[in-house]
Order: sequence, then C-alpha cells, then structure tokens
Amino acid sequence: MSPDELVAHALDARTRAYAPYSRYAVGAALLTADGTVIYGCNVENAAYPATICAERVALTAAVALGKRAFTALAVATQNGGAPCGICRQVMAELGPDMTVYIADAAGNYQTTSVAELLPASFTGADLER
Ligand code: THU
Repeated sequence: MSPDELVAHALDARTRAYAPYSRYAVGAALLTADGTVIYGCNVENAAYPATICAERVALTAAVALGKRAFTALAVATQNGGAPCGICRQVMAELGPDMTVYIADAAGNYQTTSVAELLPASFTGADLER
C-alpha cells in the first residue's frame, strides 16, 4: 500500500469521528504487516477525559483483532495537527518501528516515525531494571 493510499484511508476514517464537543475530527489508518488497514477515529464523551483519540482507537482495535505487527500509521485532521503525547506513548508500545504520516484535510502530509515523535521513550525494557 502506498503512503497516499494509507492517507486516503485516514481521511475516510476521519468522516466517522464522533466529536460533538471539540468539532475536531481525527481519522487514523493503521497498516498491519499482513497488509490489513484498520481504521480509528476520535470518540468523544460529555465527560471530556473519557474521550479516546483516533490513533489509540486504531491501535487497540487492531490488538483486539489479533494483530500485533504494524508498519505504518496515517493520521488525518483538518489542519495537519500532530499526535498527542499519550498516543505517541501507545505507538511506542505497539508499533515502535512504524512510519507515521500526518495529514491535513486536503491530503497533504508529512512523513515521520515513532522514534522521531517520541525519542528516548519509556518502554517495557525499563521495567526490567
Ligand atoms: N485527538 C485525537 O484523536 N488524536 C490526537 O492525537 C490529538 C487529539 C482528538 C481528541 C479530541 O476528540 C479532539 O482531538 C480534540 O482534542
């Protein structure tokens, strides 16, 4: 799958966002090592902290589907906003080697990586000390 195609999926996932409070719709498309694309969108809640971000919806849904190996994640917002810190931590846990595409609503995107988004991350290895 090309980066452009994965970004197009993230834009499609964005249409499913449930964001009545912020009105900031976010879509994510996660590419697994076996070529499956798993969608995520933000799902907000009247109790604001219960909101979950698009990236974590995609990653946790993937685990529930039995997927554990991920190659890329595309995230789409109106203005090309960056993934939040909690999502970066979850990316580091489940997909540390992923390429990340950060797209805006027009489909323009920048390419980065989990390592670049969250350098020197806390990982399972730290718990073994
Ligand atoms: N949001 C995401 O879905 N992903 C991020 O990485 C940043 C923020 C959502 C959460 C909330 O529904 C809205 O964007 C505004 O914060």
